[in-house]
Amino acid sequence: MKTLSMTIGLLAMAAIAVQAQDAFKINGDAEKGAATFKLYCAACHGETGHGDGLAAAALNPKPRNLTDKAYMDTLTDEHIFKVIKEGGASVGLSAMMAPWGAILKTDEAVHDVAAYVRSLAGE
Ligand code: HEC
Repeated sequence: MKTLSMTIGLLAMAAIAVQAQDAFKINGDAEKGAATFKLYCAACHGETGHGDGLAAAALNPKPRNLTDKAYMDTLTDEHIFKVIKEGGASVGLSAMMAPWGAILKTDEAVHDVAAYVRSLAGE
């Protein structure tokens, strides 16, 4: 009986550990993020996130279409947050995608714009 309850205890701990690993969730306010996106991101990503901002023509690789649900579904919340805060190079993408952490100042602001990015694909 003791072994059984220890086993159950270990399983519960393992389950909690697994949960903790994918616990990262974007939890910002997409409406606040929209203003940030227009200000800092639209030049490259386009007003509507289609990757067709004025500066996009000069970029190689081009910014992806953030409204492409099939593609966006392959990206984790953690990836989206990290690429915005720490820049493209931090996740193996183009360094033309700058780290925005210092400009957005708070993680909360990164969450807000990340939530807006998520909303572009209709989520
Ligand atoms: C100077 C142009 C430029 C600006 C401004 C810019 N980006 Fe990017 N962004 C890029 C490029 C280029 C990529 C990477 C393309 C690649 O390597 O596939 C990228 C990648 C991304 C990705 C990752 C997409 C993926 O495929 O993983 C996200 C999310 C993103 N940008 C959001 C933002 C947000 C939010 C802002 C504003 C705070 C912003 N970007 C500002 C050019 C820009």
